[in-house]
Amino acid sequence: MLVLEKNAQSEVIEELVKNLGNNRSSLLEILQAIQKRYNFISDFAQQEVARLLNIHPVEVYSIISFYSFLYSKPRGRNIIRLCRTISCNMKAQKNIEEAVKKELGINFGETTKDRRITLEYTNCLGMCDVAPAMLDNERVYTRIDPETAVKILKEIK
Ligand code: FES
Repeated sequence: MLVLEKNAQSEVIEELVKNLGNNRSSLLEILQAIQKRYNFISDFAQQEVARLLNIHPVEVYSIISFYSFLYSKPRGRNIIRLCRTISCNMKAQKNIEEAVKKELGINFGETTKDRRITLEYTNCLGMCDVAPAMLDNERVYTRIDPETAVKILKEIK
């Protein structure tokens, strides 16, 4: 990251901390705001937050790794989350998993080279009665099969 970019990001983070509160209880909200702006929370941003809140960077990182909706690495414009909890798992979720991996050429936990799509697993989405379920960002798809899943990905691409 260039020095100018770092300075600009530093100013943004300082402003966020000023507005949201420079104490531990604001940490999650600050991290969410940083992610909303930059798509992920870089090492630099984590260090800045730690410095401004006067806490150890490990504490910041541990919050990011605890919450599955916070990211320390760049992610795709679309986050595809496939449910792998029991109801979905029993309804051929494995076949869907293989089909989407093949279609995108990446594994779960990875992002396509063009940064369009990130593949992730998720736990139960509360859609067990219409399983298997999959999320594209906030949009829920239910009763999907491998063909539907691939069709959804093609539309996103
Ligand atoms: S188990 Fe997949 S939505 Fe509940």
